[in-house]
Amino acid sequence: MTADLPYAELHLHVEGTLEPELVMALARRNGVALPYRDTDELRRAYAFGDLQSFLDLYYATMSVLREPQDFADMTRAYLERAARAGVRHAEIMFDPQAHVSRGVPLETVVDGIWSVLATSERDHGVTTLLVAAFLRDRDEDEALDVLDRLLAAGAPIVGIGLDSAEVGHPPSKFARLFERARSAGLRRIAHAGEEGPPEYVAEALDVLGAERIDHGIRCLEDDALVARLVAEQTPLTVCPLSNVALRAVPSLEEHPVLVMLERGLNVSVHSDDPAYFGGYLDDTLHALEGALGLTSEQRVALAENSVRSSFLPPERRDALLAEIRAASR
Ligand code: HPA
Ligand code: ZN
Repeated sequence: MTADLPYAELHLHVEGTLEPELVMALARRNGVALPYRDTDELRRAYAFGDLQSFLDLYYATMSVLREPQDFADMTRAYLERAARAGVRHAEIMFDPQAHVSRGVPLETVVDGIWSVLATSERDHGVTTLLVAAFLRDRDEDEALDVLDRLLAAGAPIVGIGLDSAEVGHPPSKFARLFERARSAGLRRIAHAGEEGPPEYVAEALDVLGAERIDHGIRCLEDDALVARLVAEQTPLTVCPLSNVALRAVPSLEEHPVLVMLERGLNVSVHSDDPAYFGGYLDDTLHALEGALGLTSEQRVALAENSVRSSFLPPERRDALLAEIRAASR
């Protein structure tokens, strides 16, 4: 009954949608040598011990992305799959520094992705917004330079995010970056409390002015922080398959997402890097039904939270919420 509820995908790295088949096809097209003979061998490398072991592979496979067409093909493949999963709106992150640092021009990246997002509603029935994510394990000056270049080029981004290796790279390292984004009228999101401590979640809110927290699951270690997040209804975009794949949580059966929902936190579930972590939004929801007994009421709450936590203009947000209410009656 609730399988076709509208949903907003809010935590999605477009480079994390690069399926092994596309990695191999782009490697051939661009003459890029990879240390994997075929998709099976590449897939066998998808056994992660932690966030860093995933990031090493994630950045390595990106080497196949060279031309605008490559970025467009990746983005189109994601939107086709997301539409089948019930996604009606997607706020899509990309990692500009991961490409410019290996010599791919910023315009190649932005133009390639945008060539598909610009017509996503017409072509796939999915409205989209683009978010530039910055790599917290690199220095702030580089991030500021890339943000300035994006702004100078009039890149069609709605906001910025903060991702990559979390521990040892606290949000406060990027205070100037987020201030510049704020003054440019951009929305602000940060990964926090995935592998990093609850203090990073508070810092992302207090120092960066983050409006949405990606992951945030470690907030549960601090009751005062939970109380604050409940009171402020801070959106937390939780990615259960990612957390299990990267061993932030031992198993899906032990995942706290429904506990978070019951405690009144504004959580929704998302797919993070679906090509690497075992599935898209529909796969995630099915897995939660199986492992945690997700009820249709909880399913509706996740859908509503996802739409409410989006950066959609009020008319589209309210229309999607009305659709959810009608479908769940
Ligand atoms: N965490 C941090 N950085 C990332 C992730 C993630 O799950 N995916 C892509 N970059
Ligand atoms: Zn993420």
